[in-house]
Amino acid sequence: MSGPNTNYDPVEPAALDPRTIDEAVASALSAVAEAGSLEELKALRPTHTGDRSPLALANREIGALPPSAKAEAGKRVGQARGRVSQAFAARQVELEAERDERVLAQETQDLTVRVARRPVGARHPVSLVSERVEDIFVSMGWEIAEGPEIESEWLNFDALNIGPDHPARQEADTFYVAPTGSGLVLRTHTSPVQVRTMLDREPPIYVLCPGKTFRTDDLDATHTPVFHQFEGLVVAEGITMAHLRGTLDAFVQRLFGDGIVTRLRPNYFPFTEPSAEIDCQCWICRGQDPSCRSCGGTGWIELGGSGMVNRRVLRSAGIDPDRYTGFAFGLGIERSLMLRHGIGDMHDIVEGDVRFSRQFGMEI
Ligand code: PHE
Repeated sequence: MSGPNTNYDPVEPAALDPRTIDEAVASALSAVAEAGSLEELKALRPTHTGDRSPLALANREIGALPPSAKAEAGKRVGQARGRVSQAFAARQVELEAERDERVLAQETQDLTVRVARRPVGARHPVSLVSERVEDIFVSMGWEIAEGPEIESEWLNFDALNIGPDHPARQEADTFYVAPTGSGLVLRTHTSPVQVRTMLDREPPIYVLCPGKTFRTDDLDATHTPVFHQFEGLVVAEGITMAHLRGTLDAFVQRLFGDGIVTRLRPNYFPFTEPSAEIDCQCWICRGQDPSCRSCGGTGWIELGGSGMVNRRVLRSAGIDPDRYTGFAFGLGIERSLMLRHGIGDMHDIVEGDVRFSRQFGMEI
């Protein structure tokens, strides 16, 4: 067992020399400050804090000091190591923050960038309603018939018992096709398609004639010079007004809901006799709301005209009126749409803004 170290050597080991320690700290701090990246900082660690770094060597020397000198040397080396390791930690935090910022900047997505996008359009409510109406009649066994929009005056007027002096033939109502006397008009209703059908074939006839029609109205909140109609025609043996009424009731129930009925009011049309205006029970309030905006509190909404086909019309279409009878009706689509959906301005229906059409859904 060795005794206490009495051979004290007063010369301090070189590594513990305060100047050496200060230099080691200074060189560590300046190296740390200059480290430009986390990798560089990491590479500096063995040199300044590793086992063989000047401060680690100094630390090791402390054990060789006499007890009285140990405390002071330990404090000096400890403080030095503390400063260096704090400098490393602080620089580490700084460099990590810089790296994070750089990565965020590099990975940023510009969400405002414009991409090629084609908005889906929308089907126009006039098309949707027309197709629903056609479906209803087709499901009852009817056929769809179409005809030209430029029509002969004879089919549009004369064959329908609209005489040369009838007010509807005036230029104030009808678009005539140039030159004067061409005998052509833009059809004012789809009734000429019915005449064409009767001329083409033999009864029984069950046809629905949808299409565009034209009258010289200015476009305003309730009128449009181009609008859509559908007219129905039945010609067969034994057809009566009861068939007309039953057909209309079945139709409005399919379109507007169970229990809705129609009513007929006497009227006059040259092509039908007797003639009647068709009213439909208000499908919004069903006659229960005196302040209803759709029917004005009357409980009824006017849909269009109807009647038993005039014998003279049957005869001019080559059908024997003593053998066959028939009924006809005609309804305007824009008008029904305005009533049904509370559309206050015809411009909305005519102008074709997709934002208007989109409200009616994308039913195909
Ligand atoms: N053709 C008429 C119109 O254009 C409608 C109608 C058709 C009326 C058939 C009675 C019978 O307004």
